[in-house]
Amino acid sequence: MKPGTLKTIALTLVAVVGVATLVGIVVVKTGAYNVAATKPHQAMTESVLSTMMENSVRHHASDIELSPAFNDPDLGEGFEHYQMMCVACHGAPGMEKSEIGEGLNPPPPDLAASVSDLSPQEIFWILKYGIKMTGMPAFGPTHDDEKLWDLTAFVKRLPTMTPDQYRAMAEDAEENEPGHNH
Ligand code: HEC
Repeated sequence: MKPGTLKTIALTLVAVVGVATLVGIVVVKTGAYNVAATKPHQAMTESVLSTMMENSVRHHASDIELSPAFNDPDLGEGFEHYQMMCVACHGAPGMEKSEIGEGLNPPPPDLAASVSDLSPQEIFWILKYGIKMTGMPAFGPTHDDEKLWDLTAFVKRLPTMTPDQYRAMAEDAEENEPGHNH
C-alpha cells in the first residue's frame, strides 16, 4: 500500500458518512418524507419491515411458557374481548372490517387467514405488547395475562370458525348481558 492510501480511504469514509447524515437531517427537518398512510412503502422497505416484525416477535416470544389457561380457556370471555377490541380493525367470520381497519397502513391482517402461522406464545406476546409504529395496540397495560390467554385461545379458533358460529356467540353474549330482559 502506498503511503497516504489509508488516509485517503479514511477521509472518503468520513465524507460519505457526513453526506449521508446531512441528507438524513435535511429529509427529517424539511418534511420531505411523506408520512401519509395512503402512500404505500417501497417494496424493499415493506419487506424489511415485515421480516423484522416477524423475527422480533419470534425472538421475544421464545421464552414465554404456554399457560394452562390456554388449554382450558373461557371462550365466552375471549369472544367478548375480541368483539369489543379487535373487530373494528381485523374483522371476524361474517363481519367486514370497519372503516378504521380499511384505512390503516400497514393493514390489519384477516386473522382467520393469518394466525395459523403464529404459535399461541407469539399471539400472546403480540396482544400483550403490541407492535410499534403500526395500529396494533398493546393490551398488556389494561388486561391481566389470564384474559390475554382466553383471547389467544379464541383467536386460534378463528380459522375454523364459521360466520354462523360467530353470530351464535354474539347472540349468547347478548343474552347473558346483565339487565337483558328476554
Ligand atoms: C387499531 C387497529 C387494531 C386493533 C384495535 C387491533 N389490531 Fe391487531 N393488528 C393491527 C395491525 C395494523 C396489525 C399488523 C401489524 C404489522 O403488520 O406489523 C395487527 C396485527 C395483529 C396480529 C399479528 C397478525 C399476523 O398475521 O402477523 C395479531 C395476532 C393481532 N393483531 C391480534 C389482535 C387482537 C386479538 C386484537 C384485539 C384484542 C387486535 N389485534 C386489535 C391493528 C389492530
